[in-house]
Amino acid sequence: MIKIFDTTLRDGEQSPGFSMNLREKLMMAQQLENLGVDVIEAGFAAASPEDFESVKQIGDVCKKAEICGLARCNEIDIESTIKALKTAAKPRIHVFIATSDIHLEHKLKISRDEAIKKAIMGVKMAKSFTDMVDFSPEDATRSDWNFLVEILNEAVKAGADTLNIPDTVGYSTPEEYGALIKFLKGKVVGGDKVIFSTHCHDDLGLAVANSLAGVMNGAKQVECTINGIGERAGNAALEEVVMAMKTRPDLFKEKINIDTKQLYATSKLLSQITGQKVQANKSIVGKNAFAHEAGIHQHGILSNRLTYEIMKAEDVGRSTNQLVLGKHSGKSALGSRLIQLGIQVSKERMEIIFAKFKALADKKKNIYDEDLIMVAMDYDIEKKYELVDAKIYSEKDKSAKADAVIRIGDKKMNVECESDGPVSALYAAIIKATGLKGKLTSFNINALTPDKEAVGFVKIEWQDQYDKIWYGHGSDTDITIASGKALIDILNRIEIRRMHDEKIGR
Ligand code: KIV
Ligand code: ZN
Repeated sequence: MIKIFDTTLRDGEQSPGFSMNLREKLMMAQQLENLGVDVIEAGFAAASPEDFESVKQIGDVCKKAEICGLARCNEIDIESTIKALKTAAKPRIHVFIATSDIHLEHKLKISRDEAIKKAIMGVKMAKSFTDMVDFSPEDATRSDWNFLVEILNEAVKAGADTLNIPDTVGYSTPEEYGALIKFLKGKVVGGDKVIFSTHCHDDLGLAVANSLAGVMNGAKQVECTINGIGERAGNAALEEVVMAMKTRPDLFKEKINIDTKQLYATSKLLSQITGQKVQANKSIVGKNAFAHEAGIHQHGILSNRLTYEIMKAEDVGRSTNQLVLGKHSGKSALGSRLIQLGIQVSKERMEIIFAKFKALADKKKNIYDEDLIMVAMDYDIEKKYELVDAKIYSEKDKSAKADAVIRIGDKKMNVECESDGPVSALYAAIIKATGLKGKLTSFNINALTPDKEAVGFVKIEWQDQYDKIWYGHGSDTDITIASGKALIDILNRIEIRRMHDEKIGR
């Protein structure tokens, strides 16, 4: 069997534009379980109180998958990970230390011997808590292969059950990476009793190819992320690794636990949560991945699908008929569609979602999956800031006026502002009401669905007074309101962070 180790919520989440709050991470984690991943790397508990809390809560909620926390080989990191995973059903700890000379000399400023000592200490400490311990020699592909054998020997002796070989900077090529896995498997003492794992970055666009080369050379675990998100150019895309193995059973004979029919929903959920769409031509989950435009292709497909199709859209959970619900749909239809989309909600939450769904169905005839995810993700009611109402007046070549009602906690404020355009007038009103500091550094708008009453999806970046960048998004059938919701989303994210900092006395 090839284990799928998902690191969307750790390596993926730590990259710019992909940060998620606790609720969003929990939603993603539940869907990753539905998808059937074997391991969910839930975060880096020592990195921040938010990370600690998400590792803890994901560990408490997910019972099927192993829940993993990442830690450097030091006591503080590992202690924090142990604390976070104390109540998890299947806790796993992933410890790492850099092994390339460039990292040892310039980053850690320690010798190879010291790195080995730290690795032994890290693995042993993790092992005292759980039998499931991964060890990673960071920047393995730029490390001396003989030194890798040395440190991995010690990691195995100290109790690691999995040796993960990171191509941290996406430097390797399939031939070289495959050869490295084969070499290590052959040389590490006890290498036949532990799992070798791949962890490839996509700086040269080779992450998936390198991971597959690893598998072909004996790796039994692939670390990857949904939509390939991750540091810099990202990690190996889970959906691509999985579909390559499923589509070529002649080359990859081993079983994988993934329910491929959940791939599309998982990809969509991540895009929706982070506000980052995948490119149209992205393999497996991109808008065009199964679209046949050229006449010659369409002709071939009509006479026999196999002429131009190596996978079926249905096998990755994409239905050609995307239209799902409408104004006459009931709660049970809504509930079962949400489950199909990987969204599990409590009974009380369902009431709120159903009311919002009905309100949206009154505004637009066709309710698409994207609309449903948007409705399910909209938690304004429980948040400190809410755009309760807004009237916007704009005329060509004249300044625009916004008259907005904004809820701050349990108080409502009415503010009026004028500016060059409708969005900036609304933003001025929100800023006046809330005292938000900083400036807008990026603004992006897209239609969520293809119909003429489509929901507008707005994604913004906000630089606060301390130069920290915040990412927010909002959606609505009215694009000015969607823009306002995106700024309100920023306010709520800043507030959640403030509350956390206050709680821990920062
Ligand atoms: O890329 C990398 O080296 C990592 C390690 C922490 C495994 O993400
Ligand atoms: Zn990585």
